[in-house]
Amino acid sequence: MRVSKTDRRVQVILGMQWGDEGKGKIVDLLGESSDVVARFQGGANAGHTVRFEGRKYILHLLPTGILRPNIQCVIGNGVVIDPDSLMEEIRTLGDSGIETAGRLWISHRAHIILPQHKILDQISEDIRTGQKIGTTGRGIGPAYADKAGRLGIRMGDLLAPEGILAERVSQQVENRNNQMSSLYGRSGPGSREVLLLLERLREKVRDCITDTRIFLNRAIGDQKRILLEGAQGAMLDIDFGTYPFVTSSNTTVGGVFTGLGIAPREIGHVLGVLKAYTTRVGNGPFPTELTGGLGDSLRTKGAEFGSTTGRPRRCGWFDSVVARYAREINGVDSVALTKLDVLDEMKELRICTAYKCREEVLEDFPGNCDLLDAALPVYETLPGWQKPTGDIREFGKLPAEARKYIERIERLVGAPVEIVSVGSSREQNIFR
Ligand code: IMP
Repeated sequence: MRVSKTDRRVQVILGMQWGDEGKGKIVDLLGESSDVVARFQGGANAGHTVRFEGRKYILHLLPTGILRPNIQCVIGNGVVIDPDSLMEEIRTLGDSGIETAGRLWISHRAHIILPQHKILDQISEDIRTGQKIGTTGRGIGPAYADKAGRLGIRMGDLLAPEGILAERVSQQVENRNNQMSSLYGRSGPGSREVLLLLERLREKVRDCITDTRIFLNRAIGDQKRILLEGAQGAMLDIDFGTYPFVTSSNTTVGGVFTGLGIAPREIGHVLGVLKAYTTRVGNGPFPTELTGGLGDSLRTKGAEFGSTTGRPRRCGWFDSVVARYAREINGVDSVALTKLDVLDEMKELRICTAYKCREEVLEDFPGNCDLLDAALPVYETLPGWQKPTGDIREFGKLPAEARKYIERIERLVGAPVEIVSVGSSREQNIFR
């Protein structure tokens, strides 16, 4: 096991758990030496938090690279775009002196989230029998459903000749409103109102809409340094996650190719981000969840509240079955391990190495969610270090128990940990 020596010019950063691994901080960190940062899936359901110069920025839709003025940013075709969120983020950044003009590029193939999608998101949760998904309510599922159903409105439609956009909006909105009112007795804003929203969006981003596939492939050809920023995490992937308790996009590496239009051979390095423990927001299986006082103390210490919805995150021990699975699906070359400092006060730590399911011991993550509900984690216990780590900048200076914890994770996951984050600020990192 060694840090891959592959060409890092085009690098992917992906979450390996249920999202909220701290990808925003890592992208921001590595962004310093990047020319381009691109997002390829998800929408404003994400919440990437970055702290610097005493300020906290939460980005939902814009790539994290937008915080560094020399970086060109791309929102790829695989992303679903909420007009209000996009306009609000551009405005808030502008108020902080961060300009997006001339360095934000949005795919003309990216689909737009309409107000109707958000209402439908709420309705599908309300009418769902059994356990709710616990979505972020941002209209993500219904927007991707319309994309797959070949009904969606895309960013490029904003540039269509006069009258065509109005016609598309009117068809889509009236259809949706009729469906919602006849089936559920609810309705969204009329087509006139939605058209006004899209016209405002057009005014704001007209110059950003382009064929980002061409932009990115040129940047690759020009030997630019490119970071491809994942949102959510492997366990929320529509295919490989804990279905149906997942988001509606491919959060794993395949999403890069379909969400940006670049080829697999262009990727030089896949950096997976793992939190030093596990969290999950929303419902669904979570084998290592801690429901008692330990879970509460992790939540408080790690400030584990959703950055998009403010919901308390469920917290639990590090799960190497999940991490190994995510390593394999994504071809993770190396790992950034975040929030190690949150564990500083723990007397002892547990790592899940397998699941016991109905007398069977599973080391591979099961594809069947029902099996997971019955899974009991098999734990290994390690001593805690009970010393602060937030000021440490060299691996060798970490307490011996912390090094052992990290080395054990490396062995179980099968990939080297090359960055350890020991606090929320830009400086609190250990590079190996
Ligand atoms: P949706 O993406 O809003 O449809 O939500 C589907 C599931 O994904 C829910 O369990 C959400 O809590 C979860 N989810 C979506 N985005 C994020 C994220 O950025 N971090 C953590 N969980 C997320």
